Amino acid sequence: MSIFIDSSRLEEIKKYHKMGIIRGVTTNPTIMVKDGVTGGLLGIKEQSIKIAKLIDPLPLSVEVLSNNRDEMIDQAVEFAKWAPNINVKITIHGPNGELDNLEVINILETQHDVRINVTAMMSAQQCYLAACAGASYVSIFCGRVNNMGYNSIEEITKTRKLLDLFNLKSKIIAASTREVLNVSEWLLAGAHIVTVTPKLIEGMIIHPYTKETVQMFLNDAKKLSKLL
Ligand code: E4P
Repeated sequence: MSIFIDSSRLEEIKKYHKMGIIRGVTTNPTIMVKDGVTGGLLGIKEQSIKIAKLIDPLPLSVEVLSNNRDEMIDQAVEFAKWAPNINVKITIHGPNGELDNLEVINILETQHDVRINVTAMMSAQQCYLAACAGASYVSIFCGRVNNMGYNSIEEITKTRKLLDLFNLKSKIIAASTREVLNVSEWLLAGAHIVTVTPKLIEGMIIHPYTKETVQMFLNDAKKLSKLL
C-alpha cells in the first residue's frame, strides 16, 4: 500500500520524493495545464522525461491526448518509449460513451507491452472490466464519486474483492483526493495506492499540536542547555 503524488510540478515531486514517502506520480492533461506545462506534445514529452528520470524506477502515468482509436494506440506506444517507467493513462470510454477504449487497452497491454492506467472510473464494475481487459492500474475517481453522492469506499472495497477473487493483476489507484482523511480511509478500504495532491501530502505531515509540542521541546532545550 502506498501513495503516489498527483502532480506534474518537478519541484513538488522532488520535495516529496527526497523524503522517501511517494512510490509514483500521476498526471493528466488538466493537471499539466494547471501546472503550467506548455510547448504542446514536445513540452509534455520534455516534462514527462524529466519527471520519469527524477523518480526512476518508480512509475509515472501520462495520459493520451485523444479519444480516437488509432491516435490513442500511437500516442501510448510513443509515450511508453520516452522512459521505461512511463505508463499510459486511457479513460474507460469516450466522452459520449464510445466503446473503443477497452479494446485499445487490451491491444496495448497484450501486443505492445505498454502498461496502462485506466482512468476516470467511478464504479467497481468499470474497474472490474478494465482489469479484465488487462490494465496494470485501475483508477477510481473517489472524490468525484463522493461528490455525486455515492460512497467511494464501497466501490474500492468491491473492486478489491473482485480483483482478489478472480486473481486479476491490476492495482487500484484511488484518485481525486479532496481531504487528508481520504488517504488512510481509501488505503484501508483496499486501494493499493492513493494518489495525493501536494497540498494534501503536506496536510498529512503537519499537525498544529505537533508544532506546539516541538516548540515546547525547543524552549525547554534552550533552558536545559543553560542549566549547570
Ligand atoms: C489521478 O490520477 C487523477 O487524474 C486525478 O486525481 C483526478 O483528480 P480530480 O478529480 O481532482 O480532477
